[in-house]
Amino acid sequence: MHRVRGLAPLALLLALAACEKRKAAEDTVASAAASGPAAGAQILIGHVASLTGNEATFGDSTDKGIRLAVDEQNARGGIKGRQLAVKTYDDQGKQEEASLVTTRLVVDDKVSVLLGEVASKRSLAMAPIADQYQVPMVTPSSTNPKVTKDGDKVRPYVFRVCYLDPFQGAAMARFARDTLKLKRVAVLRDVGNDYSVGLADFFLSKFKELGGEIVDDQSYKAGDSDFKAQLTAIKRKKPEAIFVPGYYTEVALIARQTRELGLTVPLMGGDGWESSKLFEIARGALEGSYFSNHYSPDDSGPRIVEFVKKFQARYGGVPDSMAALGYDAARVAMEAMARARDLSGPAIRDAIAATKGFAGVTGVITLDAEHNAVKPLVVLKIEGNAGKYVATVQPD
Ligand code: PHE
Repeated sequence: MHRVRGLAPLALLLALAACEKRKAAEDTVASAAASGPAAGAQILIGHVASLTGNEATFGDSTDKGIRLAVDEQNARGGIKGRQLAVKTYDDQGKQEEASLVTTRLVVDDKVSVLLGEVASKRSLAMAPIADQYQVPMVTPSSTNPKVTKDGDKVRPYVFRVCYLDPFQGAAMARFARDTLKLKRVAVLRDVGNDYSVGLADFFLSKFKELGGEIVDDQSYKAGDSDFKAQLTAIKRKKPEAIFVPGYYTEVALIARQTRELGLTVPLMGGDGWESSKLFEIARGALEGSYFSNHYSPDDSGPRIVEFVKKFQARYGGVPDSMAALGYDAARVAMEAMARARDLSGPAIRDAIAATKGFAGVTGVITLDAEHNAVKPLVVLKIEGNAGKYVATVQPD
């Protein structure tokens, strides 16, 4: 670096120093990603997860699924003769924290692959970092279309093993219109959540296209606990159902307050409802409501039966869809590493992109040119504090 002469402003000096430092860090990381882990060293998988906060079951379940898959692979001899290890950081359900810990996993821990996040909003924070440092990222369950995109372009290093919200929203609109024969539905969305806003829009446009009427479109923000004003407005419009594409904590509180106001119509929603905590918080208020999900642990398919058995033996309790998707995401990443020409970021990336016909617990996974999986979904009805399987919807 040139010596700076004269009275350069302090800010400029600091900025230059910061640039140099970041450049040095990027060079080191870029070469780490390019060459992969040192010979004989274990392969590190980084996991970004909400282990605490209002979405704590999301991160906890995913982590259990991932660790089950990785331990099975290690027992089979690992990958390319090396053992694997998982490093998980808690992002507390916060977007800024997700970026911070993603950078830490890439720069300090030098992970070969990133898994996470569950929530689209936090995957959107991780994605540019994966691309920048050329470390492949597989999100188990972020369904918003923007996650694998940078504007119109596909993000080279970002993949997902789940379906997308245009499909999920349209499937629930069709279910409301064609199966439940509903005509008047209200929407209550979380305006601070990319997933919720997207899913509300995809549902609404399909429902209208099918001749239904959206009688109200209200909003809230994650962390809110009083939804009475919105629900009172909705009640006046006499809907036959309320579509609430949020996450389980707020959805359960909304359900309780809906019943407190004397509104008895079913609520409907998407995969964000999936949590054992949903029923605990809702205290029966969601009986008769419907939501879409990635899989049903009641399914008699042999892969599902085997997974549920293994999960129960290790952790106790039935695996929810995040556990199944975490398991699938880790297996897709590991199967790609096994096929990859070496363990560099670009080689693993190419191998993940070539994933075809992978037999996952949540369905057969083939990644398309946009780095998305095209898979069926299941519709569940809440009965006796459990989601009971109602229907499977195949992709078009
Ligand atoms: N699909 C949700 C999102 O993108 C996350 C989610 C997936 C939540 C699966 C629960 C179950 O934000």
